[in-house]
Amino acid sequence: MLVDISRVTTATTVLGTESSMPLFVAPTAFQRTVHPEGEVAMARATAAVGTVMCLSTFATATIEEVAEAAPGAPRWFQLYWSSDRGFVRDVVERAESAGFTAVVLTVDLPRLGRRERDLRTGFLVPEELPVPAFLALADAARAVSPEDISWAVDDTLTWKDLEWLRSVSSLPILVKGVLTAEDALLAAEGGAAGVVVSNHGGRQLDGAAASLDALPEVVEAVGDRLSVLMDGGIRRGADVVKALALGAQAVLAGRPPLWGLGVDGADGAQRVLELLRGELEVALALCGCTSPGEVTRAHVGHSG
Ligand SMILES: Cc1cc2nc3c(=O)[nH]c(=O)nc-3n(C[C@H](O)[C@H](O)[C@H](O)COP(=O)(O)O)c2cc1C
Repeated sequence: MLVDISRVTTATTVLGTESSMPLFVAPTAFQRTVHPEGEVAMARATAAVGTVMCLSTFATATIEEVAEAAPGAPRWFQLYWSSDRGFVRDVVERAESAGFTAVVLTVDLPRLGRRERDLRTGFLVPEELPVPAFLALADAARAVSPEDISWAVDDTLTWKDLEWLRSVSSLPILVKGVLTAEDALLAAEGGAAGVVVSNHGGRQLDGAAASLDALPEVVEAVGDRLSVLMDGGIRRGADVVKALALGAQAVLAGRPPLWGLGVDGADGAQRVLELLRGELEVALALCGCTSPGEVTRAHVGHSG
């Protein structure tokens, strides 16, 4: 209390990427299933707000289409690692030349979790919505099913493979899907620049820890060596402050921007991100912080 908060900034820099706020758009697959303009609209929305978009390997737009939609905007590329190393090398190299500034390797999906709602509804990405990654990996265009996702991801991947990834790209690598100090230390030993503490929005292992609960032990283990981000359940600006207080440098939001995209395309996603940025600014000010970097552990009580 009684801190001069007449000037508050939400801006931050993570692994060299500048952003208007420590809340990035999480990678979510198949965005044209929620709006015809999909990832291209999400890229425009994210660029308008000045934050980072993480593009999924399983996007319904190409890497280049997304880059062209928002020239110069901050963007990271999320990698699902296929057993076809030529494919992995190709997408990582293309992302780097299209101006993506980090690779986010998702490790909590060696196979798809049992998603009962998808099973009940018979979820399929229709053939009319081509998924460039599946076009590259399969012989012919076809509708993409949840089983195809397991098929497209290499389930033999281990920590040793990080070294190969580092040899094909000079971009910083973040390991997404870590929930323990042990895995965070392995990521650091493997040369990762950061980790995303995440349980994939609760979509993979049922009963896995909540990422906010797992965050403190990861920060304690590697916070001085790696950038630690988290995602899962960020719905309000104050949620970002809680994660920062527990040691995250930034958070990612998956569903909220996707809901905005579904409601009103680029404008809807932009509105959601603006609301979150506005709420974050108010929450920082009311915590007596003039920037994200001023949030400390003292700003939350935590029983964990
Ligand atoms: C529809 C949907 C698709 C997703 N697709 C991907 C993906 O392609 N790659 C990935 O790493 N994570 C994916 N995720 C997980 C998100 O990146 C993120 O971890 C999660 O959504 C965060 O939780 P939140 O939705 O509560 O913000 C997906 C999540 C959702 C809801």
